[in-house]
Amino acid sequence: MFRRLETSADVVRFDFEGRTIIARPGDTVAAALLAAGEITLRVTAVSGSPRAPYCMMGVCFECLMEIDGAGNRQACLTPVVEGMQVRRQSGARGVL
Ligand code: FES
Repeated sequence: MFRRLETSADVVRFDFEGRTIIARPGDTVAAALLAAGEITLRVTAVSGSPRAPYCMMGVCFECLMEIDGAGNRQACLTPVVEGMQVRRQSGARGVL
């Protein structure tokens, strides 16, 4: 569905639920996952519906994920970092 316009030799690797995702420096988590074919980034708290990033600019909050153990992180605003741990967010997260 999504493909990159250009390739780069520089890569950043991070873990997405046990799968190693190869991204480019400067990618956001959401962009890297979409490019890797991962569409569902969270499921809703009420119905369990799968949700995908929509606005890609921090407005819709459809991209909330668990990143390095912290929930409610907006994947479309979070740059990839080598070795980061990313998981789908399932349902509501508590406020700490
Ligand atoms: S995709 Fe809309 S806030 Fe991230």
